Amino acid sequence: MTQSRPFVAAGAAPIVLPPPRTPSPREAPTLNWGVVAPGSIATQFVEALQKYTAQKVVAVGSRDPERARAFADRFTIPTAYGSYTELVQDGRVDIVYIASPHSGHFEQALQAIEAGRHVLVEKAFTRNAREAEQLIEAARKRGVFLMEAMWTRFLPHIDVVRQVLDRGLLGEVHTVMADHGQAMEPDAAHRLFAPELAGGALLDLGVYPVSFASMVLGPFASVTAVGTKAFTGVDGQASIVVTAESGAHGVLNTTLFARTPTTASISGTRGRLEIEGSFYGPAWVRLIGRDNQPIDRFVPLQRDGGLCYQAAEAARCISAGRLESDLMPLAETLRIMHVLDTVRRDLGVAFPGE
Ligand SMILES: NC(=O)c1ccc[n+]([C@@H]2O[C@H](COP(=O)([O-])OP(=O)(O)OC[C@H]3O[C@@H](n4cnc5c(N)ncnc54)[C@H](OP(=O)(O)O)[C@@H]3O)[C@@H](O)[C@H]2O)c1
Repeated sequence: MTQSRPFVAAGAAPIVLPPPRTPSPREAPTLNWGVVAPGSIATQFVEALQKYTAQKVVAVGSRDPERARAFADRFTIPTAYGSYTELVQDGRVDIVYIASPHSGHFEQALQAIEAGRHVLVEKAFTRNAREAEQLIEAARKRGVFLMEAMWTRFLPHIDVVRQVLDRGLLGEVHTVMADHGQAMEPDAAHRLFAPELAGGALLDLGVYPVSFASMVLGPFASVTAVGTKAFTGVDGQASIVVTAESGAHGVLNTTLFARTPTTASISGTRGRLEIEGSFYGPAWVRLIGRDNQPIDRFVPLQRDGGLCYQAAEAARCISAGRLESDLMPLAETLRIMHVLDTVRRDLGVAFPGE
């Protein structure tokens, strides 16, 4: 839904926000899904699938059989496994959704790939670029679909942003700003503070602004970061400046210490886009003119269940015989993991065993 008030600058074509081209998630071909690690995001994912898609969740695997059974009962899932290995070996499962902490993504996704399953892996894709590269290589060798569950990429408002950029409606883009900070209570037991679970702000929250800047600017020419460690030694806060090959800048922030606006903006010579917080979920987009005048806005029809769009994209790609999505290509996921590695190196943060 857009409210169109075309703005016409002297000598320029009118600019308005194009409507999203996002296909209906409900119309994506049905796949049988298996869920690894029934925690918080797995709960939201299954809720979104059951409410907004024709996807079927046929099995769940937990490290604990009782947790698997409780999750299966809650969502009427036919099969509950007390291990991840049993789940990935279930031949009725088309695609495995990996929803464990970052430290487990590599091993669990690799197991699923080797069992011949398609795989959707929660963000951040892996702990580091080395693991990401190995997973991508394994999936290509096995001929299975693999995608980072960077759900933002598949949301309707982001398709509006992509179209504005593709059409050059902002003129020459110079500045991208984005942040993601949450005020977390210091708790050594929480996965976000645990070095052994690859915690920290960057992989969990900072990956969103980094991925957004990557989508807008393309490959970065440089990455510079300053940061502060949390009390457990993981990265608690990072401010990152990236430059694009075009010379444009991205100014990005992530923190576990404070709730930030979680907004994003893209500024160019003809105007700018502002995405309200939380920019990484279904959000308003405002188009603002060069002289700061409001021109148009996009309002999402649906605020909840945003995780359904990535599942629909995976289902469409797999049904079409594709091994990756153009909206979140594996080469870009790998580039983003390299950026996260660089930021952690600047901050002096390494995970155990790296
Ligand atoms: N897309 C989004 O909006 C979004 C939001 C939040 C998180 N995430 C991502 O989703 C993933 C999981 O986050 P979450 O918030 O759902 O975490 P969570 O609530 O802590 O759940 C993670 C699950 O992983 C399993 N697990 C496996 N090894 C574990 C270990 N060593 N310690 C703790 N749990 C372990 C546990 O299930 P069992 O023991 O039952 O197997 C646990 O319930 C992360 O990659 C995170 O970045 C995405």
